[in-house]
Amino acid sequence: MKVLCFLGFIALVAASPAPIHKRGVYKVERVPNPNYTGRNGPRALLKTLRKYRMPIPDGLMDAVAKADIEMISRRQIGSSRVRRQATNTTGAAALAAAGNTTAGAAATGVGLVTATPEQNDVEYLSPVDIGGQTLNLDFDSGSSDLWVFSSQLSTAATTGHTVYDPNKSQSFALIQGATFSISYGDGSGAAGNVGTDTVNLGGATVTKQAVELATAVSQSFVEDTNNNGLLGLAFSKLNTVKPAQQKTFFDNVMPSLAEPVFTADLKKAAVGSYEFGRVDAAKFTGAMTFVPVNTTQGFWQFTSEKFAVGTGAVQTSVAGSQAIADTGTTLILAEPAVARAYYAQVPNAVNDAQAGGFVFPCNSNLPDLMLDIGGTMAKVSGSDINFAQVDAQNCFGGMQATPANLQIYGDIFFKSNFVAFNGGNSSLGFAPHA
Ligand SMILES: *[C@@H]1O[C@H](CO)[C@@H](O)[C@H](O)[C@H]1NC(C)=O
Ligand SMILES: *[C@@H]1O[C@H](CO)[C@@H](O)[C@H](O)[C@H]1NC(C)=O
Ligand SMILES: *[C@@H]1O[C@H](CO)[C@@H](O)[C@H](O)[C@H]1NC(C)=O
Ligand SMILES: *[C@@H]1O[C@H](CO)[C@@H](O)[C@H](O)[C@H]1NC(C)=O
Ligand SMILES: *[C@@H]1O[C@H](CO)[C@@H](O)[C@H](O)[C@H]1NC(C)=O
Ligand SMILES: *[C@@H]1O[C@H](CO)[C@@H](O)[C@H](O)[C@H]1NC(C)=O
Repeated sequence: MKVLCFLGFIALVAASPAPIHKRGVYKVERVPNPNYTGRNGPRALLKTLRKYRMPIPDGLMDAVAKADIEMISRRQIGSSRVRRQATNTTGAAALAAAGNTTAGAAATGVGLVTATPEQNDVEYLSPVDIGGQTLNLDFDSGSSDLWVFSSQLSTAATTGHTVYDPNKSQSFALIQGATFSISYGDGSGAAGNVGTDTVNLGGATVTKQAVELATAVSQSFVEDTNNNGLLGLAFSKLNTVKPAQQKTFFDNVMPSLAEPVFTADLKKAAVGSYEFGRVDAAKFTGAMTFVPVNTTQGFWQFTSEKFAVGTGAVQTSVAGSQAIADTGTTLILAEPAVARAYYAQVPNAVNDAQAGGFVFPCNSNLPDLMLDIGGTMAKVSGSDINFAQVDAQNCFGGMQATPANLQIYGDIFFKSNFVAFNGGNSSLGFAPHA
């Protein structure tokens, strides 16, 4: 009887070939941290250059230090929340360059390394549950590793970070012999071992997601308390785990989603979200434009060879030029021709090596920038291009010239545009935010 029932069950299954109804739509909010005061243009630029192994221009390191010190002095005026730590006396040179406003900071032993923003100083918080532990991760459409600050790192390396401890997870399993290593042109990077655990992202759950545990991180990641790790959302071919390459969270979760998409609804100083499984029509205005993605390099990449400044004529920058949509980068890095033409329309804007890039008077009324996304023009609001103050008068541009043969459209782009990443047909959709 039991056997018969079993056979009946098989027959029933065979008779109903309809796939499991896919219903999954999941949302993770991306909340701005009201306490965040750490915007530093040159540091944001340096981070992007490192990520893409692009050459680091002379003067940028100095500009990073100078901006850090400016930032600290402004914070000390506004509040006393700056965490003071180890002194690096070479900071004195940067102090001199930065002007005299920071003399008090120097006296109390604030040098270059104190640039580290205070504990938990993150600009946006996107919580991810890994084996019951919640970490704020950087959702990064420009890479394909899910790596975290782990309990295997030294205390010195984890100050200001939240760490994942595999020993406190019921569901963690080590992948014997697996390692990961992400390295950048300047020698910075992260490396460690790999296991699987249940990763839950606003309800979208993968039970055996590869989670890469850092046992070593370079100083630049230690200093960047914005990151307790990254959640890579580019194509799995960029994943660095060896000997067996691992799939991204998106690739793993895709079969259980209503539609094979995730969307980035990122806003300036407001609650935004990443949503998996649908393109929410309430999030954008007009019709969404979809363009095919060039997956050769594993990025969400498309051609972008035209631009316009404000309501000016559409111009060609570089024929065939490629760009990628990267939620894990802050700034826009555009063809030098675009940056030059744009800032030429801003009175008194200059490309200042000492400041680390294009700067302009903070009270400038910046024009909009039109960028080409696979043949269709998308707008970036001028108000989003004023990124951070560098000194009493000048501000650092949120759009800078790329030093390499690839344009990177980061957060500044996403603030003006709602973007859909379609993994089903490898296309990218965009439209202005609702
Ligand atoms: C911001 O700071 C306040 C006061 O220190 C604290 O209570 C609050 O939790 C902080 N918010 C975040 C998101 O860190
Ligand atoms: C201090 O900072 C300078 C410039 O970044 C660096 O070359 C030097 O190694 C640092 N010294 C220490 C002790 O960290
Ligand atoms: C620079 O700071 C020092 C220490 O606070 C002060 O004595 C000096 O007058 C300042 N110089 C200028 C030019 O502001
Ligand atoms: C986990 O616990 C074991 C045994 O107590 C210890 O040897 C190991 O270092 C711990 N691992 C981590 C990542 O903390
Ligand atoms: C990909 O799928 C979307 C719907 O999710 C559709 O609008 C688009 O036209 C498709 N193809 C391309 C190449 O954009
Ligand atoms: C796709 O990307 C590769 C690598 O960036 C580039 O060489 C190629 O020209 C691109 N293809 C098209 C059709 O744009």
